[in-house]
Amino acid sequence: MLPNNNLTISRFIPGNERRRFKDIIKFLAMVVDLAEGYKLHNNYRVALSGVQLGTELNLNIESLRNIFYGGLLHDIGEVGMPTDFDERTTQYTDEGKGNPHHTIVGSRIVSLIPTLEGVTKIIRWHHESWDGSGFPDNLKGREIPIEAGIISLFDAYYVMNAVEKNKSVIEDYLKNMSGKKFNPGLVEIFMRLLKKDELWTPDNLNDDAWSAIGMDTYEVAKLQDVKGDYVEIALNVIAQVIDAKHKYTHGHSRRVMVLSSLIAQRMGMEKSYVHLIEQGALLHDSGKVGIPREILDKPEGLSNEEYKVIKKHPVISCALIQNFTSLKEVAPLARFHHERYDGNGYPDKLDREDIPIGARVIAVADTYDAITSNRAYRKALSDGFARHEIRKYMGKMFDPLVVNAFLDIPEHEIKLAFDLIVNQPVSSVSNTLSHIKTNTF
Ligand SMILES: [Fe+2]
Ligand SMILES: [Fe+2]
Ligand SMILES: [Fe+2]
Repeated sequence: MLPNNNLTISRFIPGNERRRFKDIIKFLAMVVDLAEGYKLHNNYRVALSGVQLGTELNLNIESLRNIFYGGLLHDIGEVGMPTDFDERTTQYTDEGKGNPHHTIVGSRIVSLIPTLEGVTKIIRWHHESWDGSGFPDNLKGREIPIEAGIISLFDAYYVMNAVEKNKSVIEDYLKNMSGKKFNPGLVEIFMRLLKKDELWTPDNLNDDAWSAIGMDTYEVAKLQDVKGDYVEIALNVIAQVIDAKHKYTHGHSRRVMVLSSLIAQRMGMEKSYVHLIEQGALLHDSGKVGIPREILDKPEGLSNEEYKVIKKHPVISCALIQNFTSLKEVAPLARFHHERYDGNGYPDKLDREDIPIGARVIAVADTYDAITSNRAYRKALSDGFARHEIRKYMGKMFDPLVVNAFLDIPEHEIKLAFDLIVNQPVSSVSNTLSHIKTNTF
């Protein structure tokens, strides 16, 4: 049920800042869903019910906004956890959930998003307990921001709600934990709302859910002051998320971006399309955030079932990227990076020119880096070997035009570009790439 909120006057206010900001939030909310499985859509409920409770308490609009985004994103740091971390970390909390690390990783990711400074603390402290037994900083009582306390309460409630059918068991638990885990004042008001059966419970992050919080005017005003390039901010956020999930994928994505760029330039492509390919290459494996790490890191051969799971990653990459209005054209490049020139690839078995040229470029760069870097199951192989393999599959896996352009690039040029780029922040990569261009062509 969603409230009919008369405060929502500006739901359709046009505004690029607002849209781009939302894009980032939607992307992150999708990542949280992917990382959490059974708790699907919990965060929307935590966010809106949290705002509702905050409204009962007459919290100011800034606090309500922080509760909304904190509720949505509080578990974003879970993306870096092994899939079975709930079971492994029972020592941390009574409900067998949580690991201090996710609160810290989560606040670091959110700190990259303009106007969410207040949310980083709430995320850091959403597992603190009223009696001081929480984590990561052992805050106690009123030291814990009320917004964090609200999220903690609703998080526990909705997690239990998803698995426990008997409502009185949940209520007993919350009452029992009042003054221990939870702020007693909050538990009291929460029980009142629960009795009235008036909790707002959306099941996805659509614009209705968004406008239900009734703070659009405030939001637009806040975002108007944001300086900075949203595409850059988005790319930085995505890079942090990928990094938190899987170190290897992160370095790999950057190297594939660099090599794809060199190939595309060698093929004489227009600057704007080269840039599109760079972005597609950087994000091509972002869908791996939805694949369990045990499978990504498996040292020996994958079973058929596991292989099927891995093969979902280009589709997930595409879905994630599509959250960004400004990256719409980039999404197909990620979706099709495992298609083969002869039509035997995945996920859509496209062939030849039906595969976007950017995806054909990324396929070659991806293979080169996979062969020449250390993998979980083997050591790096030589540049010469990679060239030999890629030539061998020309016309089968790869577009001959792309392969020829790639083979024209000497090894030392690729090495230099990799060295220059790999440890730089994403934001300065484009500049360095253009610098390399002038030096080598
Ligand atoms: Fe959490
Ligand atoms: Fe891939
Ligand atoms: Fe890849």
